[in-house]
Parts: sequence; structure tokens; C-alpha cells
Amino acid sequence: YMPDRENSKGIDLTDPMMLQNLMHELQSFTSLAPWTANPLINGIVEADGDERPIYNPADHHDTVGLVVEASVEHAKKAIGIAQEAQHKWDATPVDKRAAYLQRAADLFDSNRAELMALCMREGGKTVDDAVAEIREASDFLRYYAMMACQGFAQPSIFRGTTGEYNAMTLHGRGVFVCISPWNFPLAIFTGQIGAALASGNAVIAKPAEQTPLIAMRAIQLLHAGGIPFEVLHFLPGSGKRVGTALVSDARIAGVVFTGSTETARAINGVLANKPGPIIPLIAETGGQNAMIVDSSALTEQVVRDVISSAFHSAGQRCSALRVLYLQEEVADRIIEMLTGAMAELNIGNPCLLSTDIGPVIDSVALEKLKCHYEMMCHNAQLLCQCSLPEGTEEGTFFAPCAFEIKDMSLLTHEVFGPVLHIIRYASQELDNVIEAINNTGYGLTLGIHSRIDSRADYIQKRVKVGNIYVNRNQIGAIVGVQPFGGEGLSGTGPKAGGPHYLYRFVTERMVTIDT
Ligand code: SER
Repeated sequence: YMPDRENSKGIDLTDPMMLQNLMHELQSFTSLAPWTANPLINGIVEADGDERPIYNPADHHDTVGLVVEASVEHAKKAIGIAQEAQHKWDATPVDKRAAYLQRAADLFDSNRAELMALCMREGGKTVDDAVAEIREASDFLRYYAMMACQGFAQPSIFRGTTGEYNAMTLHGRGVFVCISPWNFPLAIFTGQIGAALASGNAVIAKPAEQTPLIAMRAIQLLHAGGIPFEVLHFLPGSGKRVGTALVSDARIAGVVFTGSTETARAINGVLANKPGPIIPLIAETGGQNAMIVDSSALTEQVVRDVISSAFHSAGQRCSALRVLYLQEEVADRIIEMLTGAMAELNIGNPCLLSTDIGPVIDSVALEKLKCHYEMMCHNAQLLCQCSLPEGTEEGTFFAPCAFEIKDMSLLTHEVFGPVLHIIRYASQELDNVIEAINNTGYGLTLGIHSRIDSRADYIQKRVKVGNIYVNRNQIGAIVGVQPFGGEGLSGTGPKAGGPHYLYRFVTERMVTIDT
């Protein structure tokens, strides 16, 4: 049995009928009573815990729901139940595990409007981004279901010289802790869990503090798809408290984390010092992503791709463009065109189709961006900045802007928002540009715009970057098409949505029989 797989088609927003239906469906989810996300252990809602309201980042008067924070005791209890259940789950035929994930993917698709409404109201996603988010989540589930069936159903048989029978089988490692970020509150959350479950692990899912509601809905749909309660537990809450309790527990068998490099390092430290076996950490972290544009590039295309890579999703993608290298011959022209294109961007309510750029996730993110903006205003040249329309003061909005800088020395950390830094270079300085990019230590995405194939090839062979995009934008990797993930400070690999991902979630067992 091999599940059929093709990526979800999503919704064609240019089709008036589809659009009308979607808008109609979305309507019914804007006026619902607030959602609540409780810890869910063995299918039982845990009602006790500190409560925290979740506000819409586009409008702080809109309370989207409430989260009941999981405690250290919850973490201990969930791990105990998961550990007991994991053997049975691992022994469940892989095609059955895969079928549950596929069924959950179908449920994600059929509940798309509700999930989109949550992505928009809790996560500040635009309509486009919300469609893509649901699509990516179902794609992950179907892809990992298929990869598990392909890779794990049959043992690998090895021939020896002595006539022995040698068989290797792959097994879930035990209890996996999945810790996910707010910028892809459904897609990455679901991808991590889907991979761990497909590979035969039990899972404790800890969503980002900012986005527990959409995560809770995903858990309900995974359970409705057939994933047993005892193998999938949900613990929303603080990273410091419940996150630390989970990763420091000696009974866990692996951690998959997406978020900042700093937090990945902290988790790695906890794992290194805890008792129990040495276990894998799969981490996908930040970037200081560049794009190199030479004088042969098509300027219109460059501008379109810079706008989407740097500013769409409010720059809140780990793949987003932060540093644009322009060859000096074309720099003025591109900056002028970019300024014009930025003036056309619509910033505001993400639920409106006309909106290009929604809010940033919360006031902490906004303050960090403002701080960076101030620092840049003192040390660099502000080239252009969008203006914030009326109404945006109700939410955490930040106006996209672009600065010209001399080199990357001011960029000591990842700036997670719609701020573009532009550096001019002379053609003979290309090697220095490549060196500067490699010297950041990050290696997530790189854009190259050039119509000289040999030059694109030259650059591409010398940068230490996980995902390189030539003559297109550098965001929006598609499951099973552009496996995604970086190197160096950007993560451990393997790439999510790629053929090697599941292998980090399993352990190999070898049986040799003298025949
Ligand atoms: N996978 C996303 C992208 O490619 C980033 O996390 O944009």
C-alpha cells in the first residue's frame, strides 16, 4: 500500500466563485465565541492552570481566545503516558499510521476556512498567507505519510559472505518533543508532529506562546483523523517553564525545534546536561539571508522578488531577504523602482484581500524592530519607508523600510521583520560579497539574480547556504519540491519536506540470523 500524494491545490484567489465562497465561509468564523486552548493529555482537557488572553495582533481590542498554560506536572504526566504508548504505536503497521495522517490532512482541507480564520486572527496572516499555510500543513502530512510507507514498510536485506540473513528495520525512537514557532503556527507545527508520528514516535507538542489556538485545532483534527490520544499530547505554555521541563526530562528520545538560534543553543545545552541517553536535536533556526543582483539581472523581476522576499508576511519568515547586494551599475535604478513599488504596498487588516502586509506578531517583536530602526537611522541611510495608514495604531504594525549600509557590520543579529538592508558592490568585489555572506555563519536562503548562467553557478558553488533561489523570490519553499532548511547557525538539517527528514526521527535495528 502506498498512499497517493500530490500537493494540495489550495484556493485560486483569482477565481471569483472560489473567492466568494471562501469569503462567505470565513465570515462565519469572525463572530464566534473566543476559542480556548487547554493542555490536552491523553485526550483529556486539563482545566487547571494560569490563563492568558490571546489578542489579534491587528487589533488589540479583539480577543481571539484564551490559553490555559501547561505546568511542569502536566509535562511529567504527558511524557509518562506517551512513553507507555509509544511501543504499540511503533508496532502499528506504517500504512495504518500513514492513513491516519492522510485522513487528518483531508480534515485540514475540509476545515480550511476555520483554520484560515485562526491563522489570520491569531497569527496576523494575510489571506494569501493563510491559504498557503493550510496547504503546507496538509502537504507535510501527506508527504511524510508517503515517505514513511516508502522507507519503513520493508526491512533492508543485506547479503553477507557466510550465508547469514541480515535485516535492518527502522523504528521510532520513543517520545519526541516538538517545539514550534508562531510564524508558521499551523504548517511547521503540523510538519514536526507529522514527521515524528509517521516515524513511530509518540509526541508531546508545545506550540509557540503566541499561537496556541490554531495549534489546538490542529491537534483536534489529528486526533479526529485517528491518531490515538495516548500518542499525541498537547502542552501550550511558556518555553521557560513547560518547554524546559520537557527537554530536561530523561525519558524523552528526541527534540525537534524551529525558532531562534539562541533558543536552539539553550535546548542543546539542556539536552547535553540531562541524565539519560544522548538524543538528537533537529533544529531549524534563523538566517541573515542575502540576495545578490548583478548588472545583467532583469530589474522589474528583481523588484518584484525583493518586495515579496523582504516584505510579504511582514518579513516574518526565516527565509526572508534581509541583505540585498546590488551591483553598482544597476543600484540607483533598482532603488528608485523599489521605492515606487513600496509606495504601492497596502498595510493593514490582514483579513482584507487588498492587504499586502499585515501586523508583526506582538509588541515584543514591534519594540525590537523599532529599536533596530532607531539604531539604523543613526548609522545608515534610510532610503524609503512605507507609511502606516489610519487604524494600524490598534495593532502591532511596522512600516516596511529599506536602509543603505556599507557592509554587514551593523547586522549583529537576525532582524525579524520588514526591514531591508541594501549594500552596493563593484563587479570585482563579488568574491568579497560571497565571503561576507559566508562569514555571517548563517546559511538559510540566498537569492541570485543574474542572466549570466556561469556567474549564478559561480556564486551558488561558493556560498554555504541551504536553499538557493536563482531568478525568483527566495521564500515559500514547497513540500516535496524545495526541501527546506539551512546549515551553520541556521540549523542542523535534515531539510523539512525532503526525502531525508524522517530518518533523523528513527533508530536502526539490525538482525542477523545464521541460516
Ligand atoms: N519554509 C518557509 C519558506 O520557505 C520558511 O520557513 O518561506
